[in-house]
Amino acid sequence: MFGTKRCFYGMILTKVSQLPHTNTAKRKSAYLWPMLTISQRGQDMPPSPIRKLVPFAEAAKKKGIKVYHLNIGQPDIETPPAILDAVKHADIKVLEYSHSAGNESYRRKLVEYYKRVGIEVSHDQIMITTGGSEAILFGFFTCLNPGDEVIIPEPFYANYNGFACTAGVKVVPITSHIENGFALPPIDAFEKVITPRTRGIVVCNPNNPTGYLYSREEMEALRDICIRHDLYLFSDEAYREFCYDGEYISAMQLPGLEQHVVLMDTISKRYSACGARIGTFVTKNKAVYDAAMKFAQARLSPPGLAQIMGEAAVDLPDHYFDAPKAEYQARRDLLVSRLNAMEDVFCPNPGGAFYAIARLPIDDADTFCQWLLESFSYNGQTVMLAPATGFYGTPGLGKNEVRLAYVLNLDAINGAMDCLEKALQEYPGRVAGKTKSAATAQG
Ligand SMILES: Cc1ncc(COP(=O)(O)O)c(C=O)c1O
Repeated sequence: MFGTKRCFYGMILTKVSQLPHTNTAKRKSAYLWPMLTISQRGQDMPPSPIRKLVPFAEAAKKKGIKVYHLNIGQPDIETPPAILDAVKHADIKVLEYSHSAGNESYRRKLVEYYKRVGIEVSHDQIMITTGGSEAILFGFFTCLNPGDEVIIPEPFYANYNGFACTAGVKVVPITSHIENGFALPPIDAFEKVITPRTRGIVVCNPNNPTGYLYSREEMEALRDICIRHDLYLFSDEAYREFCYDGEYISAMQLPGLEQHVVLMDTISKRYSACGARIGTFVTKNKAVYDAAMKFAQARLSPPGLAQIMGEAAVDLPDHYFDAPKAEYQARRDLLVSRLNAMEDVFCPNPGGAFYAIARLPIDDADTFCQWLLESFSYNGQTVMLAPATGFYGTPGLGKNEVRLAYVLNLDAINGAMDCLEKALQEYPGRVAGKTKSAATAQG
C-alpha cells in the first residue's frame, strides 16, 4: 500500500515538476513530501542500546522514585576547575575556526602529555577531533572501504556499531567470556574469522564495557597478528588513566607496529569533560594522517573553546589523577564485592576503566532492566543498568549479563546494590543461577 502511494506521488511529482509555472512551495507541500525517503544507511543505523531505557527511567522519576544511574559512563567526578577557568579567562575577541588539525599550541602540549604516559609522538602526528567519537569515525573512514571488515572482541563499546554502519564497514565479533574476566580471545579465534576483506582489529584498553585491562602478552599477540595479516590496529584508549591492577600498555608502544596503529583518544573521561567534545586521532602513518586531514578539513575545525580546556588540562599537576583514580578503585572494590556477595551473581574484578559486567540469575537482561524501572522499587528507589545484550555483536549473547558504570559515590553504590539485591529476590523472571565462576580476579 505504502509502495503504491509512493509510486503514485512519484508520477504526479514528475509531471508537476515539468510544468514551468508551478509554485515551488505548493509543489513541495502538496506532492514532494511523501516522496522523501530515509537513506538505507539511516535505516540501518542502530539506535543506542544504552539510551533506549531512558523513557522508563523518566517515567519512574515522575512517579517519585529515585533512580541510581549505573547505566551510563557519565562521570560524577568534578571537572577540574582549572580547566574551566582557562576558558573563562581566555582573551578572545573573535571565536575563530582553528586549524583543521586543532591548535598547534595544543598539539604541541599533547606531545608532552603523551610523553608522560610513555607514548612518543610529534605534534604533526596528532589531530584534535570532536570527541573520541570523531577520532573513531576518522579512523574508519580513512582506513576502511565500504564492505571491509573489522574484528572486535565482544562485548564491545556499542557505538562502534554505529561508526561502522556510517562507514559501511562490517563488524566481525569474536567472543570474550565472563569466566576469565573477558580476557582477549585466543589468537586462533581471530585467525578463524580473517577473510580477504579483513582490514583491522579494534581494541579498547582498558575496556568499556568489561573493564578488562589487556596484558603485555595480549597486546603483543595483537601486534603479531596485525603484522602477519597486514591489519590496522585501532586502539581506543579513552580510559588510560584508570588502571588499578597491572601494567598499562598502549598500542603505540608496540615495536614494529608503528605504521599500523591508529590511536583514538579523548579527554571526556580522563578529566570528566564529556561535554567539551575534545578527542585526538594519533598515528605515525603519514598516509593515514594525510587522508584523515581531508575529513578534518571538510568539517573545518574541532571546538575552539574546548581546545583551550584541553590545553590547560595538560598543565594539571601530575598528582591530579591520584584522587579520581583512588575514588574509582574504591568504588570498584565495593561494587564487585557487593555483587559477588549476592546469591548466584558473578562479577569478575575489572582491572581498569569504570565499568564492570555482572552475570545475574535472570531470564533476560533487557526485560529485567526495564522491569527495574517500570515495576520495582525498594524504599522508593531503584537502579538503572545497561543490558549487556547491546554490547555483543552475536545475537543471543549477554542475555543474563548487565553492565554497571561505577560513576556514583560509595553511598549511592551501596544504595543501588541494596536495590539490586532486593530486585533479584522479587523478579518474576529469576532463573536458577550458575555456580559462581572460580575466577574472581581479572584474567
Ligand atoms: C570506549 C569509548 N570510546 C570512545 C568514547 C567516546 O568518547 P567521546 O565522548 O570523547 O566522544 C566513549 C564514550 O563513552 C567510550 O567509552
